[in-house]
Amino acid sequence: MNQEEAQKAITTLSTELAEHNYNYYVLAKPTISDFDFDMKLKELEKLEAEFPEVADPNSPTQRVGSDISKDFEQVEHKHSMLSLSNAYSEGEIKDFDTRVKKIIETDCDYVCELKFDGTSISLTYENGELIRAVTRGDGVRGDDVTTNVRTIKSIPLKLRGNDYPDSFEMRGEIVMPFKVFDELNAELEKAGEQLLANPRNTAAGTLKMKNSKVVASRKLDAYLYYILGKDLPEDGHFENLQKACEWGFKISDAMQICKNLDEVFAYIRKWDVERHKLPVATDGIVIKVNSKNLQENLGFTAKSPRWAIAYKFKAENVATVLKSVSYQVGRTGAVTPVANLEPVQIAGTMVKRASLHNADIINNLDLHIGDTVFVEKGGEIIPKITGADSTKRHPMFQSVEFIKTCPECKTPLVRKEGESAHYCPNEDGCPPQIKGKMEHFVSRKGMDIDGLGQETIELLYNENLAKNITDLYHLKKEQLANLERMGEKSAQRILDGLEATKQVPFERVLFSLGIRFVGETVAKILVKKLHAIEKIQTATLEELIEIDEIGEKIAESVVEWFSNEKHLQLIDILKEQGLQFKIDEKQLEGQTDKLNGLNIIISGTFETHSRDELKKMIEKNGGKNVGSISKKTNYLLAGKNIGPSKLEKANKLKIPIISEEEFLKLLN
Ligand code: IVH
Repeated sequence: MNQEEAQKAITTLSTELAEHNYNYYVLAKPTISDFDFDMKLKELEKLEAEFPEVADPNSPTQRVGSDISKDFEQVEHKHSMLSLSNAYSEGEIKDFDTRVKKIIETDCDYVCELKFDGTSISLTYENGELIRAVTRGDGVRGDDVTTNVRTIKSIPLKLRGNDYPDSFEMRGEIVMPFKVFDELNAELEKAGEQLLANPRNTAAGTLKMKNSKVVASRKLDAYLYYILGKDLPEDGHFENLQKACEWGFKISDAMQICKNLDEVFAYIRKWDVERHKLPVATDGIVIKVNSKNLQENLGFTAKSPRWAIAYKFKAENVATVLKSVSYQVGRTGAVTPVANLEPVQIAGTMVKRASLHNADIINNLDLHIGDTVFVEKGGEIIPKITGADSTKRHPMFQSVEFIKTCPECKTPLVRKEGESAHYCPNEDGCPPQIKGKMEHFVSRKGMDIDGLGQETIELLYNENLAKNITDLYHLKKEQLANLERMGEKSAQRILDGLEATKQVPFERVLFSLGIRFVGETVAKILVKKLHAIEKIQTATLEELIEIDEIGEKIAESVVEWFSNEKHLQLIDILKEQGLQFKIDEKQLEGQTDKLNGLNIIISGTFETHSRDELKKMIEKNGGKNVGSISKKTNYLLAGKNIGPSKLEKANKLKIPIISEEEFLKLLN
């Protein structure tokens, strides 16, 4: 076979396989046996291996993924990926309808669709081929996950027919079917590993995996629901999606045109029941104005389109039995009660535990061990108990009393005025607090010490080798190497990691100390304002509260932490070890207060600087980059293609609009 013949054979086989794929994964009507399909795929693989010159990234063979791991490139979305505003009642849908009609001043058709509960994706097609797949990310830019998306069989790599636009974007939801999710969890359970929380998070996690072969094995699915482009065949969103179905996209057949609100409400009632029979998770209904023309007329707010709304189904509420309550002690000493339940299936996943948050919640629910309780799983991952059925309560059931002493070290618990949590005050003697503080110190966002994780900390603690943070710096190589599952190599890695902490910037050192309420952001703010530990240490409550974004709660916690002699000793020892306790001179370089106190919003695209660079410039010069326009905004820094609603709002609030050039002049 020469190259030309090979090319021909490859094209024929590819087209045939793509067609079978479509029949199987989109239409669910296969016309060939799995065996015959595999034989043809093997044949194609062989040809492609023989003639690598004619290889095609969108070949059906690419659906199996590859072992080559890949870091994802960040890509800016051509059109921001916004979310939808939510409605929880028919009343709110009526309000939506009123708002719509007020703007368009005419009647309109709505399209009702299922709201798939997965992770959103943007697919770009050019000349009928998938060229890029990007996750939502922060809405403005996301990760390029094309290689992984190619493994999803219901996403067409090449389109069918010939009446699709030359270039367009398709958006949809990537989901993991319940069946695949359950199988995965069954495997994990067998292997004694931690179980996955729900199909949504698993789908999102899978999409970001570095090995596309594993992604392929996870059998993700995708439903497409939004097409963006200039030369769409029809004005109706519904009609365009019907077309898209012909081009090879998987479009849910639950989509329906509704002429009026009564039809919308009937659709909602129907699918609130029917959805339980679907193979994938849904969490609501999306209602969209059908006409693209009217959609354009309605436009967008800063966060969402005015032409659509999501009706959220009421969270599924299931009854089960409260078996016991256990208590967990965190690194800050906060004690969290956890309900242990008779395992029950809710919203597609098995639930065994629910958080009870604090003593007030337990009291308000009037919980008794043995009670039949109602458990709800809403948008959040951790389910919550919404009530107890007192009619099913046996008189012998014991009421749940919040513990008085620490479950770990037996110290009497304290509860501060105005706070909901109980604390164990035995900071230096309570094992989970000591270990937790060390774990926090070495964590990735903290000092990021390679090879030192939860397990090793546990070992070091149990072997009496480390009872506090400073002990870590006195560890000897042989001590580490002698630990279970360790060796010379990993011991050296830890020592190198500890040595490297001397280079970690002050803001991360401050975060690592584990002061309550001083997270990454607060640590950054404190370091930027006060520059050195001595200044933070001696700052008064008033001085701290003066700082933008530092409230009373944080300020009190900082002052209290530094009033403890032991903490000052800890800092002295870490200083001796060579850790950074003042801001890096380089970071101070070029810092001015030219924009002090100014709130600036950035919108559009710019000639000479990226938005990120502009944001850094604002911050370096004492200004604040804000995300949405309000009366408090001082400038709108506008580039090309700025959103019309932002412009409108800025004009309405009389906020000065400046160009990139004018902005640079402000900084001269
Ligand atoms: S339309 C411009 N339709 O829900 C808005 N979204 O809360 C385009 N979703 O980010 C979105 N099913 O990830 C639309 N049938 C559907 C949907 C849907 C699920 C997700 C999507 C979006 C989120 C909004």
